[in-house]
Amino acid sequence: MNEIFDKLDAEFAARFGGRPAVHVRAPGRVNLIGEHTDYNDGFVFPMAIDRACHTAARRRDDGRVRIHTMNLGLTGEVPLDDLDVRPGREELWLNFLRATAHELREAKWPVSGADIAVFTTVPIGGGVSSSSAYAVALCLTLLAVAGETEPDRIELARLLQRTENRATGLRGGIMDQFTALLNRADHALLLDCRDLTFQHVPMALDGYRFIVTHCGLPRTLARSKYNERRAECDEAAAALGVRALRDASHDQLRAAEKQMPANVFRRARHVITEIARTREAARVFQRGDMASFGRLMNESHESLRHDYEASCRELDALVEAARAVPGVLGSRLTGAGWGGCTVTLIRSSADGDYERAVPARYARETGLRPVIITTGAARGAEVWTL
Ligand code: GLA
Repeated sequence: MNEIFDKLDAEFAARFGGRPAVHVRAPGRVNLIGEHTDYNDGFVFPMAIDRACHTAARRRDDGRVRIHTMNLGLTGEVPLDDLDVRPGREELWLNFLRATAHELREAKWPVSGADIAVFTTVPIGGGVSSSSAYAVALCLTLLAVAGETEPDRIELARLLQRTENRATGLRGGIMDQFTALLNRADHALLLDCRDLTFQHVPMALDGYRFIVTHCGLPRTLARSKYNERRAECDEAAAALGVRALRDASHDQLRAAEKQMPANVFRRARHVITEIARTREAARVFQRGDMASFGRLMNESHESLRHDYEASCRELDALVEAARAVPGVLGSRLTGAGWGGCTVTLIRSSADGDYERAVPARYARETGLRPVIITTGAARGAEVWTL
């Protein structure tokens, strides 16, 4: 990690001159189980990964934020008196900055100008929440350069959820920001997305591990489909007369099947069964019953595939290639879906077999090259005043 900050400091000096006063690191995440449940007030079971977005920054007093991203090789500037988000994909990285500064101000936190250099090791657009890592890093950076002590991290997660909604137009849940801020090293996080109570669950994975694999396909459809799914969930909750799908049982849903369109019924069935699976998965995980955890992961994928229709041919092929490896206990898509990554639970002794067999079979079937991301469970975001 020091190497990354050394590189970042050198870039900072080249772009802005002198040395930064603040370093920040904010991790990406992988969700082990509990997909599309967060915005239905349900449970999620993610962990932060050891890929992160890093910043080096210093305060400016002229009301401007200058920012340089090493990954994109771009430099931009945002005046603090004009924080409206702008249309266009090329504006996205700056819109995150505009939205972060805007939400901090709305919440009455002072925001000052800054010079910021950014470098991320989270694969961009890869389904492991590079965007939340970036937003969390920017937010903690702006607070630190303004000399602020950090607000409560749970409050900050809510603020960052609004930030990302504003920057991207995606009505995302709170899982990603929460995990990036609050995960503990070598633990996963069981989060109740209704009241934001959580538990750090030790990753005592004796003899097993999780493998994250990117399918080589960017999540192109994710934005429009995601908001469409949210609307379908709202429609199902309204038909059931509950505040959120969290409050409905499977029996209640079955009884109300005729009162909603077939697609809305299937979306709700995914959410309701996924919430139950996630609670069960956290229980069996803590008992060390990895076989049951793997089975629940498989069921989660099938439900996402058939009921939620959040998968795609490539993710299905990757999951099937993984499941064909002896020693794999379960495999599923992770994150929003429609491209991005899978997460697989495997016996550590079978690692090599996975690496040999899966990319080859997957490439034969799809013509795409998957990228395996090796990771442990990382600590949430950190700030250093230099
Ligand atoms: C995206 C969103 C999260 C969550 C997942 C699906 O990653 O940002 O809030 O809804 O999709 O579980």
